[in-house]
Amino acid sequence: MVITVRELPEPSVQQVTHGATAITRPDIRWKRCDIKSIALLANVMGKQEAAQLGADECFWQDERESILEGCSSNALALINGTLVTHPLDHQVLGGIARSMILRLAAEHDIPVEERAWRLDENGLSECMMCSTTDAVMPVCHINGHAVCDGKPGPVSMMLRQAMLDEFNALRQTRQEIAS
Ligand SMILES: Cc1ncc(COP(=O)(O)O)c(C=O)c1O
Repeated sequence: MVITVRELPEPSVQQVTHGATAITRPDIRWKRCDIKSIALLANVMGKQEAAQLGADECFWQDERESILEGCSSNALALINGTLVTHPLDHQVLGGIARSMILRLAAEHDIPVEERAWRLDENGLSECMMCSTTDAVMPVCHINGHAVCDGKPGPVSMMLRQAMLDEFNALRQTRQEIAS
């Protein structure tokens, strides 16, 4: 086993206040995306294409254009006040942050639904992505189009803060155990 450690840069205030940007692409990955594997060539290619287009993430879509997940994040939307994300199956990786955000949403009385969802659904007011490296990031522009008013929504920002608070509490506990 090889473990490497490096500092994780925090996103700038500007990145958070403007929100992240994403592109969408048909899913070109294999049929067992639920397996955490280091064979992530397709994800690297998606990320690279996003970066070339000035975006932060590439969301994979199935043949019905449902959003599955990002290349290194899970994708969620607020639709009619419900936090929606693709169910855990062979097409998505069950990320740690995904399970945290679903729990945090429930704790804050936000209804949660695990189902296929599309960007053109009526009532979609916010998009976000989550991962252990970036916590929750509002996604405000997708394929060059603003998501609603193109600004981070209140639910994304509330969930981001709630997750950061949990991360900090975990760090604190670890420091207390170490000292
Ligand atoms: C394909 C994919 N989905 C989701 C995630 C998010 O997982 P986690 O929340 O455990 O960081 C990752 C992380 O690298 C990923 O590669």
